[in-house]
Amino acid sequence: MSVKNRIQELQEILNKHNISYYVYDEPTISDYQYDLLLKELESLEKKHPEFIAENSPTQRVGGQPLSSFQTIKHTIPMLSLANAMNQNELEAFDVQIKKFLNTNEKIEYIGEPKLDGLAVELVYKNGIFSYGSTRGDGINGENITENLKTIKGIPLKLDSNNPPKNLEVRGEVYIDHQDFKRLNKDRLKNNDKIFANPRNCAAGSLRQLDPKITSSRPLKIFCYGLGSYDGFELENQKQFLDKLKKWGFPVNSHIQLGFGYNFLKKYYNHIENLRSELLYDIDGVVFKVNSFYNQNILGNRSKSPRWAIAGKLKAQQAITKVLDIDISVGRLGALTPVAKLEPISVGGVIISNATLHNEDEVIKKDVRIGDYVLIQRAGDVIPEIVKIIIEKRNHNNEQFKMPSYCPVCNGNVLRISGEAEYKCQNKYCIAKIKGSIQHYVSKPCMNIDGLGEKIIALLLDNKLISNFSDLYNLNIEQIASLDRMGVKSAENIITAINDSKKSSLDKFINGLGISHIGQNASKKISNYFKGDIHLLINATKEELLNINEIGDIMANSLINYFSDEENMKIIYQCIDSGLHFQSVNINTETSIFNKTFVFTGNLESMSRSEASALVEKFGAKSSSSVSKKTHFLVAGKKAGSKLKKAENLGIKILNENEFIEFINEL
Ligand code: IVH
Repeated sequence: MSVKNRIQELQEILNKHNISYYVYDEPTISDYQYDLLLKELESLEKKHPEFIAENSPTQRVGGQPLSSFQTIKHTIPMLSLANAMNQNELEAFDVQIKKFLNTNEKIEYIGEPKLDGLAVELVYKNGIFSYGSTRGDGINGENITENLKTIKGIPLKLDSNNPPKNLEVRGEVYIDHQDFKRLNKDRLKNNDKIFANPRNCAAGSLRQLDPKITSSRPLKIFCYGLGSYDGFELENQKQFLDKLKKWGFPVNSHIQLGFGYNFLKKYYNHIENLRSELLYDIDGVVFKVNSFYNQNILGNRSKSPRWAIAGKLKAQQAITKVLDIDISVGRLGALTPVAKLEPISVGGVIISNATLHNEDEVIKKDVRIGDYVLIQRAGDVIPEIVKIIIEKRNHNNEQFKMPSYCPVCNGNVLRISGEAEYKCQNKYCIAKIKGSIQHYVSKPCMNIDGLGEKIIALLLDNKLISNFSDLYNLNIEQIASLDRMGVKSAENIITAINDSKKSSLDKFINGLGISHIGQNASKKISNYFKGDIHLLINATKEELLNINEIGDIMANSLINYFSDEENMKIIYQCIDSGLHFQSVNINTETSIFNKTFVFTGNLESMSRSEASALVEKFGAKSSSSVSKKTHFLVAGKKAGSKLKKAENLGIKILNENEFIEFINEL
């Protein structure tokens, strides 16, 4: 194949994948494969810049930083929406529309979720993305073209043989909950300031002068609106949204059509119930008169169209009092301040704690015991304090100070420069020991069932154990003698402890709780040493650095851990108690090697592309269609035709929980 053809082929594969992933939520290749192909394309294009197409995925990476954003005037103002605060106001909206259109017939409406992100406008000239802007004040926005290009869901070229001369598309840029959580976790680790909520995060990311920063943020978009246009004709909003999807724009999947006030009520309730399941934030529903002809008759007020309204959903925010600020001590000794709140219901969930992350956060937000605070829940994200209500502060409330001693063991605490957390320095701190045992017995580690937090605390209090290796010396009588413990439960615990002796090395490594070494790294390390712990213990730093994805920090952490005499004593006590690990054969390393998975429906804990990447790590393949060659079908919520087909073909079907358990067992 000629270089030119290969470049074209790569551009096509990558662009197609973007559409499958961002528009249809059906990934065709894994993130890893995507990156490999993109790298290949980058290096070919570098040698042959004459073949770089304007819609090549390499053109998304972002050019030089700007010194400021230029202003762009919207051809047609970007209006805002009038609000309906309750069902009566929704009914009034329907009555007004009928009056204005002088009809008694039921009006056809389209209901859309009101996405809580940032409105942008994308302008296409002859099918090519030409420039884009923020909403700004509705009349003028900022030119953020380079930043928008980095968003993979935005087509650089319309998927059409006959593109319109001019097209202005409006949409909402957002970040989903999982990506938001991951980003904040990384930022916390790197000592960067964390974002208060996904919306701020999306806004901050979109308004970076350096597009390379924007490109590192997981921004997504849903499109829903039309600005000026030339070169096609459409009758209604539904037709427009269908057309958007065909052109390659992501359109929200929860959009519905219906008639009259009954529909407005039904859809509003439907979205209110759906809200907690959505993977992104919404703050309401939007109702639009579907027909463009009728929209035209209705026209606009000064700030908002007469043909649309936003039905506000109850805020996921509330104001409550900080009763105390507790310090929790993690298994690695990190001190985390947690605000104890006067319990309050936020979006139907009772909230009584909010994390304050670390000292810098408490100082930045200046949260004090006795203060009133605005708290916020976003999806499944742990509630956070948005801000204090300064007007309600009592002048006696004292500024919060991190303790100089560990609140659990009174040991010294230290904040190492460059780190965000204070850590308890006492090796024998009971909070650390308790945390490390809890971690050791947890599912992703040795999976010892029945040993909950309370029993571990009792075992420690009664001096029956002092670290996790002592678990292997326990007997039934000792456990049965604990408060509220029967012989049967004690037997079960002993069986679970004995069963864990046959665990695999990666789970054991993970269970040791070595700093910076998680589940993924543990798998890599175990595979590299073929399940032999002695090879790992004696490995040099150079050898550890040979392992894929193990860098300097991880290698140092491993070396430190295994050169500590006390740690080694515990490990040998485990081995002497009969812990033995199966040797790992790389080729047949997992039972799903070479097997094909299909994912369908909505998964809650991960996206389908993440699920695909996960099974690929274990040597399996993923496909988007069910056939006789499919080995496993993983069915999320609302699985449809693929599930039926798999049932007919007698393919093994797993629901999401079964799938996660299955993967954890590998
Ligand atoms: S239609 C003239 N549809 O809500 C029509 N807006 O309060 C106005 N928004 O600035 C826009 N989801 O940022 C429309 N499905 C949706 C929307 C939506 C979110 C935002 C948008 C707009 C604001 C208006």
